Amino acid sequence: MVNLGQKLLKKAQKIIPGGNQLLSKRSEMFLPNFWPAYYNYSKGCVVSDLNNKRYYDFAGMGVTSCVLGYADADINKAIIKGLKKGSMSTLNSPEEVDLANRLIKIHKWADMARFSKSGGEACLIAIRIARAFVKKEKIAFCGYHGWHDWYMAANLGNTKNLDEQLLPGLGNKGISKSFKNSIHSFNYNDINSLEKIFKKNKNQIGIVIMEPMRFTKPKNNFLKNVKKLAKKNGAILIFDEITCGFHENLGGLHLKFKVTPDMAIFGKALGNGYPISAVIGKKKIMNFAQRTFISSTMWTERLGFIAGVTTLKKMKKLNVQKKLISLGKQIKKGWIYAANKHDIKISISGLDSLPNFRFDYANKKEISTFFTQEMLKLGFLAKEALAMTYVYNNKIIKKYLKSVELVFSKINYYHKKKLKLPIKGPLKHSTLKRITF
Ligand SMILES: Cc1ncc(COP(=O)(O)O)c(C=O)c1O
Repeated sequence: MVNLGQKLLKKAQKIIPGGNQLLSKRSEMFLPNFWPAYYNYSKGCVVSDLNNKRYYDFAGMGVTSCVLGYADADINKAIIKGLKKGSMSTLNSPEEVDLANRLIKIHKWADMARFSKSGGEACLIAIRIARAFVKKEKIAFCGYHGWHDWYMAANLGNTKNLDEQLLPGLGNKGISKSFKNSIHSFNYNDINSLEKIFKKNKNQIGIVIMEPMRFTKPKNNFLKNVKKLAKKNGAILIFDEITCGFHENLGGLHLKFKVTPDMAIFGKALGNGYPISAVIGKKKIMNFAQRTFISSTMWTERLGFIAGVTTLKKMKKLNVQKKLISLGKQIKKGWIYAANKHDIKISISGLDSLPNFRFDYANKKEISTFFTQEMLKLGFLAKEALAMTYVYNNKIIKKYLKSVELVFSKINYYHKKKLKLPIKGPLKHSTLKRITF
């Protein structure tokens, strides 16, 4: 049967550079030449491709955004109602104020909110406001914060500076050289690496931006120490909660860790897949949004706010995050069981709600490609990093774990026999460079 997704992708690659808009959704990141690539519909945790084949999504649920599942009935109902009332006008939508109120109520330390549509945009807004307030140019950062120049400038001194911060191989083409030395990376759980940045750039670092957690838990009071150091050096602390927010608890992960920043950024899960992102912060800082110019027509669009408000209401009502944690623990246990049973070496990390594992082998890319290929045959979109969703249930998780066991047993079989894994296409890519050049 012709893979209609791959057929469309070939056409797309001729008229859309790279074929799509998001690196993490590129076919080459999963299974080059054989990934379904496009979806026809998505509902709950099921995705149907252009050949009408159905898969359970164990590959991140919309790049971690769909905590409540795809096409959630309550959110869609609210969205349709909003659509009928008009999604745009010359006046503002009142839901904007509602969403601001809810975010501030959840995060008692914050007084004000601004909104945009995507995560990267929200980061840029936060940086602009913080810079306007602090009047010091330079940034210290840890983690991934999007595609804008202020962040990508980290690669101007050395094109490998961002390699350790989630996405390797991003390069620095197209980034204005004038941003050189404006941003410096520090390592998670390594307070000395931040201290060094402050020392080397005396009185110049005005912003510390970081993800509260990505793979490993904070150790030795890391977040508290970052806060202390930022304060001592007169820098604003921004937590980027775009991926970790609203997965472990209702709000930013920092609430769970009991370390409050000066500003925090949300996206993804906030709208359960609808475009909405937010920057919240203390009044004295947020008011500096008025001393600069931050403004966009489509940030006023109504449906994102409706999605945000409805998502927050539903998460609260159903205590969604408690279930996400319990599901994630079940999955982590299942991975360990399957790995032990079939003598596969893996390491597990990540929040329980955002669990992931890694194959501990020199040829891990090969094994990872085989894993995705075989799981696809068994009806799963799968990779090693998952995002729990409220719509997973025991039956689906059991089915997933049984499939993982089966694929691990195959990997073990080929390893023991010292045979090459039978992979149909090229190996998956993990860097931008390999995909585009
Ligand atoms: C922590 C973090 N910041 C920023 C972004 C960028 O968000 P977006 O892709 O919505 O622009 C992401 C996306 O993965 C993220 O995980």
